Amino acid sequence: GMKLAIVGGGSTYTPELIDGFLRHRDVLPLDELWLVDPSEERRRLVGGMAQRMFARGGHPGTVHATDDLVAGVAGADAVLFQLRVGGQDARHGDETWPHEAGVIGQETTGPGGFAKALRTVPVVLEAAEAVRRYAKPGAWIVDFTNPVGIVTRALLSEGHRAVGLCNVAIGFQRRFAARFDVAPSAVRLDHVGLNHLTWELGVHVDGRGDVLPELLAEDLTDLAEEVELPAPLLTLQQAVPSYYLRYYYAHEEVLREQLREPTRAQVVQEVERALLAKYGDPAIDTKPEELERRGGAFYSEAAIDLLVSLTTDRGDVQVLDVRNDGILPFLPDDHVIEVPSRVTADGAVPLPVAPLADDVRSLIADVAGYERLALDAAKHGGRDRVLHAMWAHPLVRDFDRAERLTDLLLAANARHLAWA
Ligand code: G6P
Ligand code: MN
Repeated sequence: GMKLAIVGGGSTYTPELIDGFLRHRDVLPLDELWLVDPSEERRRLVGGMAQRMFARGGHPGTVHATDDLVAGVAGADAVLFQLRVGGQDARHGDETWPHEAGVIGQETTGPGGFAKALRTVPVVLEAAEAVRRYAKPGAWIVDFTNPVGIVTRALLSEGHRAVGLCNVAIGFQRRFAARFDVAPSAVRLDHVGLNHLTWELGVHVDGRGDVLPELLAEDLTDLAEEVELPAPLLTLQQAVPSYYLRYYYAHEEVLREQLREPTRAQVVQEVERALLAKYGDPAIDTKPEELERRGGAFYSEAAIDLLVSLTTDRGDVQVLDVRNDGILPFLPDDHVIEVPSRVTADGAVPLPVAPLADDVRSLIADVAGYERLALDAAKHGGRDRVLHAMWAHPLVRDFDRAERLTDLLLAANARHLAWA
């Protein structure tokens, strides 16, 4: 059996993972699960819920909740990072202050995502040092902490054993599997890009070959609706972009929507209130349906797939956030990309990708340039570094706007940035 630690274990998402640990306990035998979280209330509510779920499922493992990072990760075989610095309040800021400069507000994309990176990278690197010192030698860090591309690259840049994870690909895989009435494992995606900047360029179903052309012909309206983009866009690209591409391809429409609707942070806060009430109810010992209103569908499946392959040397292929190493030849080797990768006990190795179309390649290259400047700013601080990254982002570009956004970001985040 193993010890697993979750840094940010007081997240309302944790019961989603617990549900996965219960369903997959034969392949992932957990002796101890440690939830590390600074909030006493979250430890009590989420920790209590996790314990009841284990008890109800007859899981032999023990659940511990602590604010002591060192105790939490000590001797761990693997550590999951799912923390959110500043909580939903900071997210609400990320989703609103960019509006003052005419740019969409989003927790991982654009100026808001940049602010999140600045708040998060130092905290994650500190937690990773504790893993290096106190976890089992060779313990893996699985990072869900957004922005996953920048955060995973931060970890790799400091020599940590880390793999980044997102549920966008597994969501498409399951959607297409249901469409063709096959098991998810019978669907292989040509999924390519950076975290939250990806396209499905092929959908291979066992025994049928690449069904993407068929999907784009027959299910075009549904697919376009699901990713909230115009149907002709999918036809032109002969691809299914993830819904995060909407922030680029439908920027003005998204901005108009955002200006008249509550923020996602406000919606999530409501959902979390309901969830935490249930977590505090001793009569409730199964995953509440409200969790389905969060964006993280299937994320426990993705996490468990990854943990099993890393700990049992399975050698299967999963879509992960990993070091590029020449797979996208127009990016530096040390950039972090999101592509199908083979996973063994030695980690995840990206598989080759066919040359990309000009429009897809150039947007990836642009955002990667921003991500590199953003990590530089997150690690070293300083207004000039922030301005440089902000300016480089393809949703900004205009220098005056970059200066305005930099001031807004710094004003909204001063208390989260040690150097500001
Ligand atoms: C998807 C993304 C995650 C993101 C989540 C937000 O799952 O892949 O990276 O954190 O959506 O969901 P929320 O319910 O917080 O809006
Ligand atoms: Mn994600």
